[in-house]
Amino acid sequence: MNNLTTTFNAHLWRQHRLSKQPIEISILLTQMGFAAKVLSREISRAALVGRLGLVGEKNATGDAQKKLDVFSNQVVVEAFSDIGLVAAIASEELDQVQLIECGQDAQYILCTDPLDGSSNIDTGSAVGTIFGIYRRSSTGYCSTEADALQPGTELVAAGYVLYGTSTMLVYTTGDQVDGFTLDPTLGEFLLSHENIRCPDQGKTYSANLSYYQEWHPHLQKLVDYLGDHKSTSHAAHTLRYSGALVADVHRCLLEGGLYFYPSTEEQPLGKLRLLYECAPLAFVVEQAGGLATSGTERIMDIEVTSIHQRSPLAIGSAAAVKLYENFLEQGM
Ligand code: AHG
Ligand code: MN
Ligand code: MN
Ligand code: MN
Repeated sequence: MNNLTTTFNAHLWRQHRLSKQPIEISILLTQMGFAAKVLSREISRAALVGRLGLVGEKNATGDAQKKLDVFSNQVVVEAFSDIGLVAAIASEELDQVQLIECGQDAQYILCTDPLDGSSNIDTGSAVGTIFGIYRRSSTGYCSTEADALQPGTELVAAGYVLYGTSTMLVYTTGDQVDGFTLDPTLGEFLLSHENIRCPDQGKTYSANLSYYQEWHPHLQKLVDYLGDHKSTSHAAHTLRYSGALVADVHRCLLEGGLYFYPSTEEQPLGKLRLLYECAPLAFVVEQAGGLATSGTERIMDIEVTSIHQRSPLAIGSAAAVKLYENFLEQGM
């Protein structure tokens, strides 16, 4: 349903009044909206200002950092540095938790993947930003790394920005999931997808099939089952894999479907990071009626022991995620 007169900020104010959640959460989300506008502009003109290509460094998880990875991280950190509410930030592009502010007002922790899908950036395909917001768990004057090591169930807000054919911001604070589309002529995110519900079934699955030979044999059977276009017992799924988790999960959220990035022998916990990729997206998808699992455990329940901890991930339509879990366990 389009409601093109509701700005993101007006929606946040109304949501604060109705839900009685702290106004600070609305302020934090407003700042995320601001960072998203800056990144939408800067991503679209990166080629014009020399911001494509590699930095020549690797981040803590071994990813080759793109110039836009580092720049996006700076934009997000700066957007949250002067508002006095954020105690610390955990980011894919920061080796350690970055202390932002001490004192009683700074009660929130931001976990972020500032640029998701950065392998797409030099060729103009979709990329995203993922964010999750926690309340501090420590009581001291300054925050500690432990404040960022909270399971997804402790998230107070989470969401993502998709820089695609349009720039969309999708978020939840635990009530419902709402989507906003940026009108660049106004510089405003306008409510375009109110109360998103994830269909129980979908027609697509997203996975990097080049790893098929390295997956658990039961998951190879799942792929064979999903891609069986001759079956009369179930509808086959079409493969759609963009290289950006945010874009593939967004498709599952709106149209139903399944994204999975399983473990392999080389990467027993898979590739994706729990704190700033899997858990925030799991919060959004679950709030929309979908599911998110490691294959054996609900993503939101997984204990976080390090900020760059990885987890296998299967996320999307409830029926599809349950099918994934059944296949992984029983091979059928
Ligand atoms: P990031 O660019 O933030 O490092 O994330 C990349 C992730 C995810 O966005 C995507 O689905 C996946 O890595 C792609 O991995 P493969 O290239 O191994 O398929
Ligand atoms: Mn990366
Ligand atoms: Mn990512
Ligand atoms: Mn990233």
